[in-house]
Amino acid sequence: MMQGYGRERWATRIGLILAMAGNAVGLGNFLRFPVQAAENGGGAFMIPYIIAFLIIGIPLMWIEWAIGRYGGAQGHGTTPAIFYLLWKNKLSKVVGVFGLWIPLVVIIYYVYIESWTLGFAIKFLLNLVPQPPTEVEDTKDYLKPFEDFLISYKGSGEELIIPSLYAYVVFLITMVINVGILIRGVSKGIEAFAKIAMPTLFILAVVLVVRVFLLETPNGTALEGLNFLWKPDISRLTDPGVWIAASGQIFFTLSLGFGAIITYASYVRKNQDITLSGLTAASLNETAEVVLGGSLAIPAAVAFFGVANAIAIAKEGAFDLGFISLPAIFVNMTAGNFLGFLWFFLLFFAGLTSSIALMQPLIAFFEDEFGLSRRSSVLITAGIVFFSAHLVIFLRGSLDEMDFWAGTIGVVFFGLLEMIIFLWIFGGQRAWEEINRGGIIRVPKVYYYVMRYVTPIFLLVLLGAWGKEYIPKVIAETHWTVWVTRFYLIGLFLFLTLLVFIAERRRPKEALSE
Ligand code: PFF
Repeated sequence: MMQGYGRERWATRIGLILAMAGNAVGLGNFLRFPVQAAENGGGAFMIPYIIAFLIIGIPLMWIEWAIGRYGGAQGHGTTPAIFYLLWKNKLSKVVGVFGLWIPLVVIIYYVYIESWTLGFAIKFLLNLVPQPPTEVEDTKDYLKPFEDFLISYKGSGEELIIPSLYAYVVFLITMVINVGILIRGVSKGIEAFAKIAMPTLFILAVVLVVRVFLLETPNGTALEGLNFLWKPDISRLTDPGVWIAASGQIFFTLSLGFGAIITYASYVRKNQDITLSGLTAASLNETAEVVLGGSLAIPAAVAFFGVANAIAIAKEGAFDLGFISLPAIFVNMTAGNFLGFLWFFLLFFAGLTSSIALMQPLIAFFEDEFGLSRRSSVLITAGIVFFSAHLVIFLRGSLDEMDFWAGTIGVVFFGLLEMIIFLWIFGGQRAWEEINRGGIIRVPKVYYYVMRYVTPIFLLVLLGAWGKEYIPKVIAETHWTVWVTRFYLIGLFLFLTLLVFIAERRRPKEALSE
């Protein structure tokens, strides 16, 4: 039962690809990408972005698929156990804990934001949204009612935040929906849902893009927005900040360095193709991000407010752009509330196919390593997430702190570890064969060198630059709410480490068979 053949598998290849694409396509594509691009010079951002896709995104994607399939064939879907298969050293298990900790920390805030998108979608459908003021001086006044709307939804405060009861209830509903999908399992739950959600999501996005392209105001047109996004400004390429942001976006949008692709890949059959499937899933994500994500928020904001204002709005962050400016633009159009509903529903579906992916590693861990039933594993995982989310809901600054340590720096660090363990400790040749086994296409040989040398060195430099730039700023943050979050995150790590070692004692049979 515990061994390879007893694990669940994806039912179809198209289902696997859609589930993997669903994993990657998320809030990051429609909210984070446009903000990162606008903040980092528009067209200037796209050059490092494409380079990072080629030398980080694609190789790491193949590596994670290969690591996952390798572990799955031996009955394991998470990195504490898989790293130990690759590297017979106790340290590998501790290092592998990051592959549980990172998705757990990220899901804690990701699912809360996802719940906002559902909360907003419902409000737009029921016409319970503000209307813009008619006589206004500037953009700020125009946006004011929408800003107030967001604040009354999620709450605000210097230290403690009290959200609306509605927001809290919608969060509960969102958790229940996630559990409802996950409890049905990999092929009947995740895969079946992805087969519906992914086509729906693409259609919704296309409808919205068409509408945005037709938008024209005295302030500008959507085309000017596209022009801003795609006109390269070579001079910005010397700014390390732009490279850091572009690489960070590649990690986040492709779900790399989180352990989540590894867990999904652990349900791939031993000799099933991963080279073409991995590339296809990554390409679908990039289409959703660059073509669709790039054609919504920024072009709409530019057409409505003009380039300068749009950049200023984007600088305020993803929440302002997605939850304040876009609704304000939509309500002005014919059938505006319905368009607003479509926008938030799109975000909700994108978020949902990603949040189930972020929850699956811990679920797989309980199933594989403790032999718990799927039902118990899902409920325990959801319980931990729900409990922890209260930090994000009620403590100001908690979300950013989690996003920084797990979703920003953590993933680069973990991605580097994966490469070292797979290509250097497990062995370059073995890893290469593992990646190509059963492949419909062969990975070009140049990627062997990219994986072994270019990417790890690039990631090392990146980590150094990143640390130098951001860690001092982050450490300087001494507010108590931030410290509570930090202690909690350390506590979670220790808790997971403890679980890993308890699991090991519980499964003496397997240890014998090794
Ligand atoms: N790639 C997702 C996004 O762009 O929103 C975020 C994400 C989902 C990261 C799932 C990691 C993950 F496992």
